[in-house]
Amino acid sequence: MVSKHSVLLANEFHPETIKKLDEKFQTHHLWELSFDEKKRLIQELQGTCEAIATASWMVDEIIYELNSLKIISCFGVGVDGINFEVTRGRNIRVSNTPDVLNDAVADIAIALVLATTRNIVNADRFVREKKWPQGPLPFGMGLAGKTLGIVGCGRIGEEIASRALTFGLKIAYHNRSPKDLPYSYYSSIAHLAEASDILLCMLPGGEGTKNAINADILKKLGSTGIFINVGRGSSVDEVALAAALQKQHIFAAGLDVYADEPNVPEELLEQDNVVLLPHIGSATVETRKAMGQLVIDNLDAYFSGKPLLTEVG
Ligand code: DGY
Repeated sequence: MVSKHSVLLANEFHPETIKKLDEKFQTHHLWELSFDEKKRLIQELQGTCEAIATASWMVDEIIYELNSLKIISCFGVGVDGINFEVTRGRNIRVSNTPDVLNDAVADIAIALVLATTRNIVNADRFVREKKWPQGPLPFGMGLAGKTLGIVGCGRIGEEIASRALTFGLKIAYHNRSPKDLPYSYYSSIAHLAEASDILLCMLPGGEGTKNAINADILKKLGSTGIFINVGRGSSVDEVALAAALQKQHIFAAGLDVYADEPNVPEELLEQDNVVLLPHIGSATVETRKAMGQLVIDNLDAYFSGKPLLTEVG
């Protein structure tokens, strides 16, 4: 009988995929253990376990104590949770799950654009609290003719842009360098913010983009401006954002991601001009299934000596 390859599962990123991994490999559930038990398990696996599967956005640093580690198969596209200093230094290969989630994340971005501009969440509360008979809600903001500025226009950003065009929005964007796109390019986030009615952040996170959206940028967006974040929470100075919302330096915000998930700053929870989602950009049945399959396919490719399907450089 051929023995199964050993795979350490760092967190319970998708129960359906975990089940498939449990069937296919000799798995070890790291997240179920106490700190001491984790340490003990990693010692037991030294030399025999080469593979880890983990959510890309919440990586337990303890995984790097596994000296025999050769591959981290990430569930998720944004790999800001990975310590590339360690992986590059030790030739540990990393794979992620790009493209299969573009539609789902683009959909949630548009949902936040509509929820903030049309005050959907407060409108729902207004009806439930039986306030409707007392008079109308303040009017929302129309989309046609307004400018949506996308900070970080990669593959997901392009999907957002094509959806936004159908609402009559004009598209502008900022990337490190211009792409071959029929949209207005801005070489700085500040200039893009000035030109935008809605500023949508799709930055990938990590040290390079930390607090890229700060008080200055929000001021440039202005008191009628809307800020949306579906990239990574670390790209936003959340204290500055909460202050801008509170002082109405911007009109509203819609967030799916936070700097310290699952913790959301109290200052944001207190504001009713911000829509808060629990990082559900890719959370559809279909998308999560496809992401899970890529995690498995990358592990299969690794164990059979084939090129990884979606290796991160
Ligand atoms: C990712 O894959 O990086 C997304 O943020 C998950 O929704």
